[in-house]
Amino acid sequence: MSARHEPVLLAEVLSFLRNGPGLYLDATLGDGGHAEALLAAEPGARLLGCDRDPAALAFARGRLTGFGDRVAVAHATFREVPAVLIEAGGEKLTGALFDLGLSSRQIDDPSRGMGFMTAGPLDLRMDPSRGRTAAERLAGAGEEELAAVLREHGDVTGAARLARALAAEASHGRLRTTAQLREAIDRAHGGRAHPRRHAQVFQALRIWVNDEAADLEAALQWLPGALRPGGVVVTIAFHGGEDRRIKQALRGARVMRPARRLPEIPGERPSEGPWEELTRRVVTPSPAETARNPRARSARLRAFRRKQS
Ligand SMILES: C[S@@+](CC[C@H](N)C(=O)[O-])C[C@H]1O[C@@H](n2cnc3c(N)ncnc32)[C@H](O)[C@@H]1O
Repeated sequence: MSARHEPVLLAEVLSFLRNGPGLYLDATLGDGGHAEALLAAEPGARLLGCDRDPAALAFARGRLTGFGDRVAVAHATFREVPAVLIEAGGEKLTGALFDLGLSSRQIDDPSRGMGFMTAGPLDLRMDPSRGRTAAERLAGAGEEELAAVLREHGDVTGAARLARALAAEASHGRLRTTAQLREAIDRAHGGRAHPRRHAQVFQALRIWVNDEAADLEAALQWLPGALRPGGVVVTIAFHGGEDRRIKQALRGARVMRPARRLPEIPGERPSEGPWEELTRRVVTPSPAETARNPRARSARLRAFRRKQS
């Protein structure tokens, strides 16, 4: 039985997300910790909670029953949220929360293959009811694709060499469990690799298997149209790439990867976007929070308000 997920930066999330009565979206409902606190603190709030993980939805639905018809939940990835919103009547959002990454329930369940410390099948899907597992994806992956995944989603050094080793193992059906992956990383490293390297590889494969980058990109595209003027979006990212992309998109930078660096005009910050940034600097957990909940360690919170026009 896995422990309940402890909501990260809870007081900070509420301080930005509370925005009066209206409809709120929790796009990453998880165990419903942030959702429960918001509904308790904001009596006029109604909440649509979405998650791609059916087990998370079942748990959160039970946890939030006391709020009656103020809560609705839906099985949806970020890409599917706009259809859910339309289905629910098309009301514009007063607030939206994206608490990216994994819940403790997912990490601690060995059958999900998420934790690089636990023994289990190499699955890594947030939604076990859809798509192919990491083991299945690896079995058909080419070296180059794998190297790009390791580099882009895990900042893994020596990605090409490791990808060659992993592709060879996978093609012989020897990458079916978390232990086999750990051992293959160690062999390619020439001895026991640092746990950080294991963590980077697991993270990269998880982002790939769940197509997380494309899903986040979709959300960043539909968000401006989904919030009412004055509506607030709060994001919590757990790795640099995601945080950078959120910052870039919501600050109004239009180009994702410029072909070449253009000279910056002093004092000229992109301001043409629909968002006003509420967090002047990224918000991170206090030492007390990380001592109590080490999984909060890399959390990076940002908040933005939809401009009036
Ligand atoms: C960190 S947990 C959220 C915890 C929650 N805030 C709480 O207080 O219990 C992240 C959740 O978001 C879900 N998730 C992550 N990426 C998603 C995506 N692209 N679409 C839908 N759900 C996603 C995961 O399945 C997981 O349950």
